Amino acid sequence: MRVLVTPDYRTLSEEAAALVARAVRMKPDLALGLPTGNTPLGMYEELIRKHRQEELDFSRVRTFNLDEYLGIAPGHPRSYHAYMKTRFFDHVNVRPEHAHIPDGSPGIDAALECERYENAIRDSGGIDLLIVGIGTNGHIAFNEPGSSFDSRTRVVSLAPETIQNAWKHFANEAEIPKHAITVGIRTILDARHILLLAAGPAKAEAIERALRSPVSESVPASAIQLHSDVIVILDEAARRH
Ligand code: GLP
Repeated sequence: MRVLVTPDYRTLSEEAAALVARAVRMKPDLALGLPTGNTPLGMYEELIRKHRQEELDFSRVRTFNLDEYLGIAPGHPRSYHAYMKTRFFDHVNVRPEHAHIPDGSPGIDAALECERYENAIRDSGGIDLLIVGIGTNGHIAFNEPGSSFDSRTRVVSLAPETIQNAWKHFANEAEIPKHAITVGIRTILDARHILLLAAGPAKAEAIERALRSPVSESVPASAIQLHSDVIVILDEAARRH
């Protein structure tokens, strides 16, 4: 595992985007695992800039988002579909048929959707580079503490802390989804390369536990210690002092 500590969030975003851009240039039909949340926003902005100014070409890239709220239509402004569209896909040339996000629409057969999604990843040849953030409770994607390291794409209940952290994005508590579809820990560990991003002091404790605690299902992010090709990029604030 390589850990890179950057002086600030902007540098973290630039380093992450540089790494993704290098991977895309080396393999134009790269399969990317993509995260949402605040942490990757700067990386997406920098990738958009590289697309516009440095001819970074996404026309053959395939993308698989890591998770989506369940019970929310793709058109809902707080859906991860909407996030990806407004923050990234509208500004680069990823082809719509190459962009995959779990469908958490109300009324969907969620178990079937999870199976379909996991199969889609497998049938595409697997994820080459999976980028992931970390929750304050150590979750990765929506794999909450206690998630099996053998888990694959499935429906999960969100932890109280995760629901609390989602408060700012929703109008009221009733609107916050309590369930999600997420790729599993095993799905994440199957990726050829993993890039974990963490920014800000609120993530310092989770990162410390993920990187230095014994590997345990009570700290989902500690699973990355089991992978042989991981890069972690932290900003200075996310490093424990
Ligand atoms: C949510 C997402 C995760 C993300 C985490 C951290 O729980 N499902 O994929 O890593 O939030 O988000 P942020 O980067 O906003 O702190």
